[in-house]
Amino acid sequence: ADPADARGGLPAAERAEDPAAALAAIREDLGDCRRCKLWSGRKTIVFGQGNPRAELMFVGEGPGAEEDEQGLAFVGRAGQLLTDIIEKGMKMKRSDVWIGNVVKCRPPQNRNPEPDEVLACQPFLERQIEAIRPRVIVGLGKFGGQWLLKTAEPISRIRGRVGEYHGIQVVPTWHPAYLLRNPAAKKDVNTRPMMASSR
Ligand code: URA
Repeated sequence: ADPADARGGLPAAERAEDPAAALAAIREDLGDCRRCKLWSGRKTIVFGQGNPRAELMFVGEGPGAEEDEQGLAFVGRAGQLLTDIIEKGMKMKRSDVWIGNVVKCRPPQNRNPEPDEVLACQPFLERQIEAIRPRVIVGLGKFGGQWLLKTAEPISRIRGRVGEYHGIQVVPTWHPAYLLRNPAAKKDVNTRPMMASSR
């Protein structure tokens, strides 16, 4: 019998049968993307990386200088702190999770991504999440948190409040770059709901 979920008898969405292949197809569709104006200032498209079968996913804002150089998400100073949260705080391996961003190209001078840029990138992040179907997605900072929860509420309000994206548990929290500037806020980061889904 078909497993029916709470959304009216539809089978619960499952991760792609071959999530690595699904992600590769998404990357191919992205191509040498010029769907928004960020293409002109980028060095590298930062697709996101990690375990295609991850149970836990992190969504940040967008690449910074180091990420743009290396083509990898969260490899600068904020990335080091994210690694510490995952490895020291959660006792997980960074290579076991998946890490991506709301926009895949570096905004000039690390300015905030603009609404048209977020919209242009949106279908690709949506498809990445559907391919991976993790148990939990952590939204890092205003952009990750608001994108996942489809809200305009400030991260100061939504952080720590467990929500949902397409049936996947969402935990918004402070962005690691904010934590570098405000180390006292580290005490607010509760990793427990990131490690266990309520389903
Ligand atoms: N900040 C982000 O939001 N994403 C990265 O990949 C790096 C820094």
